[in-house]
This record gives sequence, structure tokens and C-alpha cells, in this order.
Amino acid sequence: MANNLIIYYSRRGENYFGGAIRSINKGNTEYCVEYIQNAVGADTFQVETVKEYSKDYMECTREAQAESRSGERPELKEYLDNIADYDNIFVCGPCWWGTFPCALLGQLEQLDWTGKKVFALMTHEGSGLGHCESDLRKICKGASVGKGLAVSGSSAQGSESTVAAWAKKCVG
Ligand SMILES: Cc1cc2nc3c(=O)[nH]c(=O)nc-3n(C[C@H](O)[C@H](O)[C@H](O)COP(=O)(O)O)c2cc1C
Repeated sequence: MANNLIIYYSRRGENYFGGAIRSINKGNTEYCVEYIQNAVGADTFQVETVKEYSKDYMECTREAQAESRSGERPELKEYLDNIADYDNIFVCGPCWWGTFPCALLGQLEQLDWTGKKVFALMTHEGSGLGHCESDLRKICKGASVGKGLAVSGSSAQGSESTVAAWAKKCVG
């Protein structure tokens, strides 16, 4: 079994690309997850909420803002409860109001991180990694948080070589 794991969240539906709203059936972060898998091999766990966010982009940003302000942890379809088999954990997701979506943070809070190496990959439209790495340091107690990678959402599909080089360095 690969000792690399990717825990990720990615949203399909309407998304924002350099000024225009477009509907997509594969999330930006999903491309990057695939590229990490191709480069270093990894098991994956996708975080999915029971209650779907609005497919409408603007409405979704409002829902996410309310959630992040109140620190809500939306219920997930399935929870990962054990990462004991893995050494390297990639945490991948979009930037929502400066950090990972509450659903993803909620999943991370359930796990024992002792001795793990953690790497953030965030797709975004301008905020880069935001404050996700400092959030990971707080949540993933006992883990070391390595250098993360920010990928612009609109160029996620074309980011394979960058993502592959980064992922190889992480596990190297
Ligand atoms: C609810 C919501 C909030 C967002 N907040 C930010 C933000 O604070 N900063 C930013 O650069 N991009 C923000 N974005 C843009 C997304 O981070 C970007 O489109 C990302 O690539 C989406 O990834 P996904 O398709 O994997 O879900 C936001 C998008 C949504 C839907």
C-alpha cells in the first residue's frame, strides 16, 4: 500500500475563472489530486458534505462565509477515522475565505496526526495559500507541516508538471 494519502475537497458546479463564471464538472483541486497520484502514488479520501453547497457561485460564497464566521463543521457523508498506515498526508482543497472549507477542516480535526508529514495544496483565485498552513499547524498536532503549493484555480488543469515536481520533493 502506498504510504501517501491525499485528503481533499473539491466542488463542482459554477466556478470563477479570471473574471468569468463558468460551470465545471471536475473541480480545480481534483486535477491536482490526480497529478499528485500520477507522480508519487497515493490513496485518496474525498470529503463530501451531506448538505450540498449551492451550485450557484455567489450563493455558495455566501454560504461558505457564514459557515467560516461561525466556525461550523458541516456533516460529512463519510468520515476517515484512521491514518495510521500513512507517513505523508497531502491536504488539498480550494481557498474559501482565506483557508480550506470548513468541511475539510472538520475532517482533519478528527484525526491523530502524531508523527505525520503534512503538505498543503490549495487552489485559489488570488489568495495563494491564504492562512491554511498556519491552520494546519494548529489542527495537525504532532505533525510536521512541510512547504505547501498554491495553484491558481484557472490554471489547475495545466499544472501537472509543477504539481508533480512539488509532490516528488515532498515525499523524497
Ligand atoms: C465559497 C468560495 C469562496 C472562495 N474564496 C476565495 C478566497 O478567499 N480567495 C481566493 O483566492 N479564491 C477564493 N475562491 C475561489 C476558489 O478558491 C477557486 O476557484 C478554487 O480553485 C476552487 O477549487 P475547486 O474547483 O477544487 O473547488 C472561492 C470560491 C468559492 C466557491
